[in-house]
Amino acid sequence: MKKKNSQPNSPLDQSKKKTKLKSNSQKAGVANPMPWGGRFEESMNELAFDFSASFDIDKVLFEEDIEGSLAHVEMLMLQGIIDKIEFQKITTGLKEILVELNSGNFKTMGKEEDIHMSIESRLREKIGPVAGKLHTARSRNDQVALDERLFLKKTAKRMIEVLLDLQLTLLAKATEHEHDLMPGYTHLQRAQPILLSHHLLAYVSMFERDKARFTDAAERMNQLPLGSAALAGTSFPIDRLWVAQKLGFREPTLNSLDSVSDRDFMIEFVSNCSMVMMHLSRLSEELILWTSFEFGFATIGDAFTTGSSIMPQKKNPDMAELIRGKTGRVYGDLMNLLTLMKGLPLAYNRDMQEDKPALFSAIKTTRQSLQIMSAMLKSTEFHKERIESSIENDFSTATEIADYLAKKGVPFREAHEVTGKIVGFAIKNQVSLKDIEFNTLKGFSSKIEKDLYQFLDPKKSVAMRKSFGAASPDSVKYQLKFWKKKLVQV
Ligand code: ARG
Repeated sequence: MKKKNSQPNSPLDQSKKKTKLKSNSQKAGVANPMPWGGRFEESMNELAFDFSASFDIDKVLFEEDIEGSLAHVEMLMLQGIIDKIEFQKITTGLKEILVELNSGNFKTMGKEEDIHMSIESRLREKIGPVAGKLHTARSRNDQVALDERLFLKKTAKRMIEVLLDLQLTLLAKATEHEHDLMPGYTHLQRAQPILLSHHLLAYVSMFERDKARFTDAAERMNQLPLGSAALAGTSFPIDRLWVAQKLGFREPTLNSLDSVSDRDFMIEFVSNCSMVMMHLSRLSEELILWTSFEFGFATIGDAFTTGSSIMPQKKNPDMAELIRGKTGRVYGDLMNLLTLMKGLPLAYNRDMQEDKPALFSAIKTTRQSLQIMSAMLKSTEFHKERIESSIENDFSTATEIADYLAKKGVPFREAHEVTGKIVGFAIKNQVSLKDIEFNTLKGFSSKIEKDLYQFLDPKKSVAMRKSFGAASPDSVKYQLKFWKKKLVQV
């Protein structure tokens, strides 16, 4: 035991040092610079401070922080909790700080752990101790929840704008290629002929749902958490309804505990980002396939591709690959948030500060991916001839034979069987469906007449798919009209 104690790194040694430090600082009368300093005798360990500081990440929230503070302080004045002069001093100070932050002239003291404390310290520097009144009847717990909701309500709007831009790009491409035939796939095997416009418009529908999800999320988070204070509300006669209205919230939240411990709104937002990325990743995958030598359906503009330093013929779809790759990052952000919140007891826990890196990463990645996809698509050229000629001999009109027989009273299962045999014959004899002799066809079913040939033309086949929402030119015309009316402002 004795030996151990004499080692310089033994726990006992360290605790001795600690005690010494403590008494030193007491002697020297070093005040704890933290806002909770009153109860503490020792200042915060430097490593612990660095570990817990979040200013570099949450500084993004400065605008919302000041917006929230301005509304809060006005309510405090209207409710007689602070006087008019105090209100004016605080408001002027906060507005000046906003200018500093916007112009990049904001200087932190270096001792504040987050954006909320930094703004308050700067305010104190500017207007003196009255700055301390700003924090009356609130806590950083409801303050940060407010900032995040304000920020995400705005971000939802911006996300909807970039989604709309991508939809408009897709709509323009679909209009340009309204009548171009292309093979439709299931299992990545040739299925039935469709129109390229129909394919592109499928994505417009997907991104419309994504927009609606952001609108829904913004509506659900449209409740004011401020006034919940640390967890249990406040004894000050605050007016949460007034603050809610002032800040553009539908209503105040109903339960103070829930208000400060809730990050559902953020998880929902990042889940929406994940869904957008999943859609973008599918489109990316298609672009990657379509621009391959094997498909040769499209070429992405030079500005959005890269070459190879060793293989001169290469033109790589890196942006599409990166969108596909970054989808994993956003899914990771979603898992990060879900895992972060799992098992947290009510109400606020410091773990929750870790919500921001995941949130900001998901937003940045999703927004950039949407912007890149839109610009890259604009630069993409589709090769009509190559796409259309690829359908010539692919048997993708076989379903027409089955439908033809079914319309003549043959049960569909039987019609399918007969058609399968015809396709088998064509493959064996290396002949396309429309080049099989009439007598041979008749041999497969007595119901076959010469009029069948017209349906083996891919153009006719597409034109016949007239059911609502189908791939026919009529249906595409309807879709184009629908989206133009809905998305294009006149
Ligand atoms: N920086 C903190 C966060 O983002 C603010 C809330 C701190 N509250 C507290 N009780 N320590 O979560």
